[in-house]
Amino acid sequence: MKIPDSHIIVIFGASGDLTKRMLIPAIHQLFIHHLLPENFAILGTSRTQLSDIEFRQRMNEFLPSGEETNSQFLNKVYYQTIDYDLQEDYQKLKIRLESLKQTLNISSNYLFYLSTPPNLYDVIPEKLALADLNNQADGFKRLIIEKPFGINLSSAKNLNISLLKNYEENQIYRIDHYLGKETVQNLMVTRFANGIFEPVWNRNFIERVEISSAESLGVEGRGGYYDHSGAMRDMVQNHLLQVVGMVAMEPPVVIEADAIRHEVMKVFQSLRPIKPEDIRKQVIRGQYTASTIKGQSIAGYRDEPGVDPDSHTETFVAMKFYIDNWRWAGVPFFIRSGKKLPTRVTEIVIEFKPTPHHLFDQKGFEQYKPNQLIIRIQPDEGILLKFNMKEPGAGFMVNQVNMDFHYSSLTDIHLPAAYERLILDSLHGDATLFSRGDTVEAAWNFIQPILDAWENDPSIPIYGYPAGTWGPYESDGLIEGDKTWRYPCKNLSDDGLYCEL
Ligand code: BG6
Repeated sequence: MKIPDSHIIVIFGASGDLTKRMLIPAIHQLFIHHLLPENFAILGTSRTQLSDIEFRQRMNEFLPSGEETNSQFLNKVYYQTIDYDLQEDYQKLKIRLESLKQTLNISSNYLFYLSTPPNLYDVIPEKLALADLNNQADGFKRLIIEKPFGINLSSAKNLNISLLKNYEENQIYRIDHYLGKETVQNLMVTRFANGIFEPVWNRNFIERVEISSAESLGVEGRGGYYDHSGAMRDMVQNHLLQVVGMVAMEPPVVIEADAIRHEVMKVFQSLRPIKPEDIRKQVIRGQYTASTIKGQSIAGYRDEPGVDPDSHTETFVAMKFYIDNWRWAGVPFFIRSGKKLPTRVTEIVIEFKPTPHHLFDQKGFEQYKPNQLIIRIQPDEGILLKFNMKEPGAGFMVNQVNMDFHYSSLTDIHLPAAYERLILDSLHGDATLFSRGDTVEAAWNFIQPILDAWENDPSIPIYGYPAGTWGPYESDGLIEGDKTWRYPCKNLSDDGLYCEL
């Protein structure tokens, strides 16, 4: 395994939640798996006054307890207070970086991780550039930017313009942690390394595609942020559309950042815009209401701290759309995402067309169930194929059975968390699993008319759904005929309206 060059990772917003819950644990994992060079450092910065020692103590709480390597790792962690708006603080940061570089024998390779509120996404890069910290003459200078990348199409465009004033596109790593998930990456391998799937992956054989990302949690103390975002901005514009890109793209010429991102971009350019008059038919929004789960009262969304008591923010969205290109003409795509649903699950369902003729008996003479390939992103990561088999005994009764692979059966393999993979890739200069500026804009371009219609037309309903259910009943109506969404359970092979919780 190639090891990145010596470097310093500078985390802006280091006193925040993401740093302690995700970033530090991810870098720690890279460290214990010997994926980092001998000489590296992490410099946390934020407005909070902390010493190196205090910061280390805070971070220690989020490392696995009792690990001998924790203190070796924490010795590489430093802290510096910063006022993000003061240019002189960036000069001080530069001096601190110089001194760490000298004492620790590190080259001038800096990865700046912006884990701050989004209103600082243009301020910090600009001030870094004024301090010449964008200059790559003596080593790489890269920016990692967390979502949300803009709050609408025009702010995303402005942010791209502002960043590109001082940085090349290949210095900017827009993180979408879904692309860092092992199972999302495996989509490319499933499609392009299997002769049995590749020929049928198109409109001739596929009836429909369904992508669900359900969460059982609610807004968990993030009401203030979420109420200005909603499920469409929080999950669909980025994570779900990136997954659509991976499912629908053409084979890239090579497995390289731009080759793959060109193909994703082509998918986004082919998304059929949803006309204003079709929005209420093709896009269903919902918001969870109070309910009782296992005898416990669950608050409705409007009662969550930080949420407007009259909020019209959607905590659920389900939509149907088409990709107007050669491969997918006429195949409906259904995606849905929501909070306070019955279980946490993200999966892709590829439903194949039925056989042309109904040959065998079936109970009640209904159609056989369609073949489905289910790619489980999380949890119980794996792949499930549902196909029909003769019921043993007299006659030709058809029944559906499962063939499944679970990643958990690979016991000796460490499944890296998304942030581990993405931070490592950015240190290697590999942007394959990061969103490119133009694709982010294309994704906004697709959803902006929906957001505008929701904002400007109060007659478009927002349906309530009791916390702990599969969203508004109306979302079932998106799928024609007697078909429904797959209602997945915690375990990949189980499904149905009711699962063990
Ligand atoms: C984040 C959203 O980007 O993704 C959260 O802001 C959401 O609201 C989270 O809970 C889901 O990520 P995961 O990896 O748990 O599916």
